[in-house]
Amino acid sequence: MSIAIAVHLCMARPVWRAGLRIGAGTMLDIRPMVAADSEALLAHVRGLSVRSRHNRYLGGVNELARAEVERLLGGAGGTVFPLIAELVECDRRTMVGEAVYAIDRQAGSVEFALSVRDDWQGRGIGAALLAAIASCAGKAGARLLHGETLRGNDAMLALAAKVGAIEARHREDPRLVRIERRLTAASAALAA
Ligand SMILES: CC(C)(COP(=O)(O)OP(=O)(O)OC[C@H]1O[C@@H](n2cnc3c(N)ncnc32)[C@H](O)[C@@H]1OP(=O)(O)O)[C@@H](O)C(=O)NCCC(=O)NCCS
Repeated sequence: MSIAIAVHLCMARPVWRAGLRIGAGTMLDIRPMVAADSEALLAHVRGLSVRSRHNRYLGGVNELARAEVERLLGGAGGTVFPLIAELVECDRRTMVGEAVYAIDRQAGSVEFALSVRDDWQGRGIGAALLAAIASCAGKAGARLLHGETLRGNDAMLALAAKVGAIEARHREDPRLVRIERRLTAASAALAA
C-alpha cells in the first residue's frame, strides 16, 4: 500500500515528489495555503492536542485568532508563506498538516514552523513538509533553514536530526532550542 506525495509549491508547479507508505489510493498534497483554507486552518489548530499545540506555538497559543489567519492567508507579495498538507482520496481533501515559512532575503535564511494532526503523526508527513520547505527555501536562494522548538519537543528534535539539522543555543530564551540546517544547491535539489 502506498501513498504518493505530490507537492505543489512556489505557487503552482509541483517541485517535489516521493513515495510514502500510509494507505491505498491516498495522495498527500502539499500546496500553498489560500484564503479559502482559513476555516480548515482554524479547525486544525483547534483540533491539535494540548501538547501538540503547546509545542507548535511554543506554549503561547490556545486558538488562532480569525484576524490573524486572515492576515496570514491574505498576504500576497509578502515574505511569509503558509503551506497546507492534505490527504486526497477520490477528490476528498482532508487537512493533516500545516507549515509556515518566512524568508529573510537579506540574511539569506528561511525560518519555519509546522504541525501535523495528532492522529497522522509518525507517518512521514512532518518530514514531507520540511522537505517541501527546504525545497522552496533553496529556490528562494536561502542558504540557511532555521526554526525554534521547546527543549522537550523530542519529536521535532528527532525530525530535525533526521534531516541533518543541528541544534544550537537559543540566544534569547533558555526554554528553546534553535534548529539550523545549511542549504547547499545540492541539498535544495535533493529536497526537490
Ligand atoms: C514534530 C512533528 C511536526 C513531526 O511530524 P511527524 O509527521 O509526526 O513526523 P514524521 O512522521 O515525518 O517523522 C520523521 C522522523 O522524525 C522523527 N520523529 C518523529 N516523531 C517522533 C517521535 N514522537 N519520537 C521520536 N522520533 C520522532 C523520526 O526520526 C522520524 O523518522 P522515522 O519515522 O523514519 O523514524 C509533529 O510531531 C507535530 O506536529 N508536533 C506538534 C507540533 C510541533 O511540535 N511542531 C514543531 C515546532 S514548530
